[in-house]
Amino acid sequence: MSVTDAVHTRAHTDLAERARRVLPGGATHASRTYDPRIYVARSSGSRKWLIDGTELIDYTMGHGALLLGHAHPAVVAAVREQVSRGTHYGAAHPLEVEWAEQIVSLVPSAEKVRFTASGTEAVMLALRVARAATGRDRIVKLQDHFHGWSDAVSPYLDAEGNTRTPVGVPDALGLLTTVVRTDDPAGLEAELARGDVAAVIMEPSGAHYGQLPLARSFIAAARSACTATGTVLVFDEVVTGFRISPGGMQAVLEITPDISVLGKVMAGGLPSGAVAGQSDLLELLGTTIAHPGTFNANPLSAVAGIATLRLVADGSPQRTAEAYAMSLAGEWTAELTSAGIPGTIRRLSSILHIFLGDPEAQARIANAMRAEGVDILNTSAFCSSVHTIADLEQTVAAFARAIVAASTPE
Ligand SMILES: Cc1ncc(COP(=O)(O)O)c(C=O)c1O
Repeated sequence: MSVTDAVHTRAHTDLAERARRVLPGGATHASRTYDPRIYVARSSGSRKWLIDGTELIDYTMGHGALLLGHAHPAVVAAVREQVSRGTHYGAAHPLEVEWAEQIVSLVPSAEKVRFTASGTEAVMLALRVARAATGRDRIVKLQDHFHGWSDAVSPYLDAEGNTRTPVGVPDALGLLTTVVRTDDPAGLEAELARGDVAAVIMEPSGAHYGQLPLARSFIAAARSACTATGTVLVFDEVVTGFRISPGGMQAVLEITPDISVLGKVMAGGLPSGAVAGQSDLLELLGTTIAHPGTFNANPLSAVAGIATLRLVADGSPQRTAEAYAMSLAGEWTAELTSAGIPGTIRRLSSILHIFLGDPEAQARIANAMRAEGVDILNTSAFCSSVHTIADLEQTVAAFARAIVAASTPE
């Protein structure tokens, strides 16, 4: 059955109806609100299957967490073994030590590690540490950069350049978070020169994992200005950590932040986040900052993370995923050209970003791809180390049809 038919079966529409009754907006995540909704029952490797068995090639890949693909045998075996030994000890355990040692050995900024339950929490904790270390309150973030959904990182600039906060976040919090444009390194330096900024936080890949690239010179200038002004530089590597290279984006850039925020790949598809940084900063968590968290270093996440980090430590899964993404980007670009549809494909390592010239086509591309049996995350595709030549051929054919469908007014 095609995906288009599958989502209109009774089983799918009934689930969507039940969801609307009990889940706000019928959904559980801001990126999963599209209609028609798909309901997935199972996943393996590069594929996932809807509740009626219809198969999709997946490029959401656990919102970027699954560099090794769905249900990787090493991760499944580790989780299966651990689950029968207990899922929560309410005490320290050897796994958290081994997991932290792996992170310290791979990530340049990581001298010490504190685990959290998500990337959002890790961002909150990194800012808490920076504020405690500096005795300053102000945070600087970059326009369009995403750091999860916590209040401190939610302010943004409107079209007139005024700081705004989203609904539910007090305007007063906008006074503590200054948003700087990425084409304005002098603006960043001027903010830091005031001497009252605790931390600069940024996605070192550029906003949305490389969708809007960031000049290395901007990042290097930020590094220098942070050092000169005693400001803590925080790299949010929730997506890029372990995916772009074993040491993340910072290893590629050869620029080391004071603190890195990690998530996603570090736990092989199970929930976790971490703050990994300089010993003197992180040790505040061992002295003055109290940081609880029921699911910090949860044993199930730990074993999935350990199994994953063992496999990605030598960089070979990253290289395989990147080579696949490179081929796919070339094929997709050729399809755009031959169809005469304006657009470009941007690639950061194993992540592709689709840009179609027509904004309406851009808004329709994910649904059009899903209708063709390929699931992407908004306008981005996360490639894994287990996507195959067959996946590539099918994905190229699906893209060729989807760009025409997305470009055709409804
Ligand atoms: C760059 C970045 N930082 C932080 C987060 C938040 O992580 P989590 O969804 O685990 O809370 C995300 C989530 O996609 C992210 O892309």
